[in-house]
Amino acid sequence: MENLEALKELAARAAVEYVKDGYVVGLGTGSTARYVVLALGQLVKAGLRIKGVPTSRETAELARQQGIPLIDQDNAWIIDVAIDGADQVDPSFNLIKGGGGALLKEKIVAASAKQFIVMVDHTKRVPVLGGAFPLPIEVIPFGWGSTAREIEALTKSRVVFRERNGASFKTEAGNLIVDVHIDRIDQPRDLEISLNQIPGIVETGLFVNRTDILIVGTPQGVQTEHAQRI
Ligand code: 5RP
Repeated sequence: MENLEALKELAARAAVEYVKDGYVVGLGTGSTARYVVLALGQLVKAGLRIKGVPTSRETAELARQQGIPLIDQDNAWIIDVAIDGADQVDPSFNLIKGGGGALLKEKIVAASAKQFIVMVDHTKRVPVLGGAFPLPIEVIPFGWGSTAREIEALTKSRVVFRERNGASFKTEAGNLIVDVHIDRIDQPRDLEISLNQIPGIVETGLFVNRTDILIVGTPQGVQTEHAQRI
């Protein structure tokens, strides 16, 4: 059986090569992003000067342990490069993210970055988003049931309220997550726009037209592709 962890690490190490001295770096969340933080930690110990903008408490804690200085408070960053994982990537480099529930901060950081690098193992590439991986959507707790009903009506798909250890899953912003089981997302941009019209939705896990560079860990090595953002 192939070792996906090794492929994630391979992709992460390739992504870190885009980080230059003096950069402000957006640090993603999840198991692939973890390898980025570890690799950057080694480089910082060797003298690289960077500042990180973490997309979750988990990433912030790991970055601190690795000695990476963080910008937590200043919220008008200019981020040179943001590096993050994804749950699915389509042929146009659109993504589903939010498996770890950090999609809101991840999207804010990606949107503030001059360059957004996505790293995945090859199993995350799909011909069309949806299907095996549900679309996470962050909703505010007030009226979340009505919001979920609106999402269900729009997508004609099953909406599942996310729980963890028998309790509702709370995001770092204090919101809830619903996972929408959509068979195919043929028009991700249109779906994102329509979802954003529903009151109560804070953010969706659709990352449309945001990827600049896709780095894929495969059994044959690393593949790097440059996206044309429209
Ligand atoms: C967290 C995310 C992650 O980037 C995504 O879930 C991929 O995680 P992993 O690298 O562990 O497979 O969006 O909110």
